[in-house]
Formats: sequence, structure tokens, C-alpha cells
Amino acid sequence: MSEQQQAPRGTYDVLPGVAEHRARLVDGVAAPAFARAGYARIETPAFEHTELFARGVGESTEIVSKEMYTFTDQGERSLTLRPEGTAPVCRAYVEHGMHKLAQPVKLWYEGSFFRQEAPQAGRFRQFFQIGAEALGSDDPALDAEAIVLLARMLEAAGATGCRLRISSLGSSAERAAYSDQLKVYLRANEAALSADVRERIELNPLRAFDAKHEGTQAVMTDAPRLLSSISGEDRAHFDDVLALLTAAGVAYEIDDTLVRGLDYYTRTVFEFTSDRLGAQSGVGGGGRYDGLVELLGGPPTPGIGWAAGVERVLAVAEAAGAQPAAAAAADAYIALDAEADREAAFALACALRERGLAALIELGGRSLKGQLKQADRAGAKSLVILGGGRAAYDAAVKNMHTGEQRELNDLTKQDYIDRIAAELIA
Ligand code: HAM
Repeated sequence: MSEQQQAPRGTYDVLPGVAEHRARLVDGVAAPAFARAGYARIETPAFEHTELFARGVGESTEIVSKEMYTFTDQGERSLTLRPEGTAPVCRAYVEHGMHKLAQPVKLWYEGSFFRQEAPQAGRFRQFFQIGAEALGSDDPALDAEAIVLLARMLEAAGATGCRLRISSLGSSAERAAYSDQLKVYLRANEAALSADVRERIELNPLRAFDAKHEGTQAVMTDAPRLLSSISGEDRAHFDDVLALLTAAGVAYEIDDTLVRGLDYYTRTVFEFTSDRLGAQSGVGGGGRYDGLVELLGGPPTPGIGWAAGVERVLAVAEAAGAQPAAAAAADAYIALDAEADREAAFALACALRERGLAALIELGGRSLKGQLKQADRAGAKSLVILGGGRAAYDAAVKNMHTGEQRELNDLTKQDYIDRIAAELIA
């Protein structure tokens, strides 16, 4: 098969079977957990003005400088397929005057995001995130609540055994002062750094903590740490978040090398990782972004949030041995032979579905024996047999579990649906 005949690199089809797992994660686990914590659902467009991400996520980040799918539309506007959801949610918050609502405003979303990264296991160019954003309060309890929500959601999804690493980046002033200090340190050790890190000293020195390069890692072991320079209100905020996590029974590890790949973070940052995944160990992560709404033209508004990768959550759950959701069984399989009244059978299937029953009808032209096998494969609870020498509208209903078969005779056009439905429900 040629490349053009396949889905583009880094994308994939969600086939039946997997689609149900995903639906169970989003609708069965995430949606109820968010509702219980007072988060309302929001959906933003799949593309935005490029400027939103350039300003919001930051020109110096890998996401903006290397990974965005950007195009020009017919009106010569530069648009970008969203690489992440925080900047769009903040844009929507400002655009719809949500600062006038009771604060904090808690929102969650699920959808596809796009990054032009080198595809590998667990890393896609179109991937899905479940995300949460809480805007309008800097209460440390909001940070802790968001983190606990993600911790519990991962467990409920079967993605057990994830590690939570947490740190604080302080205020943007502290971060800027630290960044200058780190630049000086990196320049002093330039010779031992990878070319990549060396090139980014001015632009994004914090990313040196993420380097895989041995020499760089050795240099970073002794690098000054931002967390140790955080004091006053920022330190107290961080200590409060930690105390609340402990109170909720969520285990964490303080990691002063934790930096995130987006520029908007202030104060709390965190990441859930799993060693059940290969190189792409990040299951979900987030943090506080107290300057972002203002940066995007809104009033000064603190915010905290996270996003988790749907593919990665499901991969961890699978590796942890979580049982996939059983396929929904059909209530009835309508079997018919050449003699049967096809219109009556078709009307019966439609009417049963309208009554809330999962009804399948033979559409493959199989023999009666083949239909029985097919009903078994579909996990049907009952088989409704039409035709087979019976009078028009008469039917047999066979219980697929017990094998017991009941004949329903003297059915008429007016009552056959009611009587068959009653037999199925009984
Ligand atoms: P992020 O760390 O860039 O944060 O992405 C969050 C999660 O999305 C990752 O932990 C990972 O599970 C998943 N993910 C990211 N890139 C890919 C990819 N190429 N393929 C598969 N999965 C991927 C954000 O996006 C922030 N907006 C999170 C946030 C919300 N911070 C505050 N509020």
C-alpha cells in the first residue's frame, strides 16, 4: 500500500473496540468526575489565530518554534491547528466575559490536538487530550483539587502506579531573575553542553533540565535550582498545595528539576509519569498560569490546569492489566429466512430500538444456521425467528443462554411488535 493510501504519519484510525475504551474513559470516568468537582464542559475550535499560541505558549518553546501546523487561509490570515488547550480556553474566557461570572470558573475539555513531532510509540501528530482549567482564583486549594482530580481519574481509568512529581516556578519576576542566573551558569559551562542546549541558552535556558545528553545532564546536576530561590508568598503557596495533597492522601515527589515545555507557567507545576510507557513517560501534566489571561488581553486573572493524553492513559491502563470494557450485548437478534416478511422484520427491529432495546437484524443473507452463529457472536440475549414455515407475523423467541424456545402464535400486524417486545422484556 502506498503512503498516500494510508493515514498520514503520526495519525491513526480509532477502530471499533478501541473507540469504546476511549468513550468509557471520557464519558464514563472523566465526565462524572468533573461534574462532581464542579467543572463544566467547554469546546473550542480545532484551529485558532497563530498569534494566540505564539503569545500564549511562547515563541521560545519547541511547540511554537518547531511543532505547529500553521497555514494561511483565503483571507491571508495565519491560522494554526491547536497544539494545546490552555491558551484557547483563556481566549474563550476573555472573549465571553467569563470574568463577570462567579469565580473560579472551572472548565474541562476533550478533543484532538496537533503537534508536528517525530512520531513514535505514544507520540502522535494528532492526539487527544482530556484537560481541565480553573480560572479566577489563586487559592492553593484549587491547585490541590485539580491535581487530586487527575490522580483519582487515572486510578479510576485503571492507569495505576503513576508517579506525581511537583515543583514551583515562583512568580514570573522570580522566574526571570532565576533565568538570568541560570544563563550565566550555562555559559560558564558551555563546552560540556549539547549543541542544542547551547543554542537555546538565551531563548529558553530552563529546558536544559530536560536534556538527554550526558554532558548536559552532568552540568545540570550542580546547576542552581529555582525552587530553592522561592520565598515569601510563593513558598507559602507551594507549601499549602503540598499540605492539601497530603490531606487528600495523594503521594507526590518534589522535583526541583521539573520544567514544563510551555512558557505560561508560574508557581505550581506538576507531571504524572508512568514507567509502563516507553520513552514517552508523561501521562499528564499542568500547572498554574497566573499571567496568561492578562497576556491575552483580559483582566489580571490567575489560573491552574492540566491535560492528560488519552492514548497514554489507555496505554498505561492496558499495561497495568485493566480489563477493557465488554462490548455491549444485543438484546435481540432478528433472524429471518427467505419466506419471512422482510418488511415486518425490518419494522420490528426499528420499533424495538425505539423502545430502548438493542436489536440487530440479519443483513448478510446467511442461512438460519449462520444467523444463529452470528447472534451468538454478537452476544445476543435472545433470538427472534421469523419465517421458517410460521404464519405471517408469528415468531419464535429463543433464549440464547438457556436454549429455551417459545412459539408466539396468532400474531397480527397490529400486535406482533408489542407481543414480541413483551416476550423479550419478560
Ligand atoms: P503538555 O504536557 O504539553 O501540556 O501535554 C499534556 C499531555 O498531553 C502530555 O502529558 C501527554 O500525555 C499528552 N501529549 C502531548 N503531546 C503528545 C503527543 N505528541 N502525542 C501523544 N500525547 C501527547 C499541555 O498541553 C498543557 N496545555 C497542559 C495544561 C493545562 N497546563 C495547564 N493547563
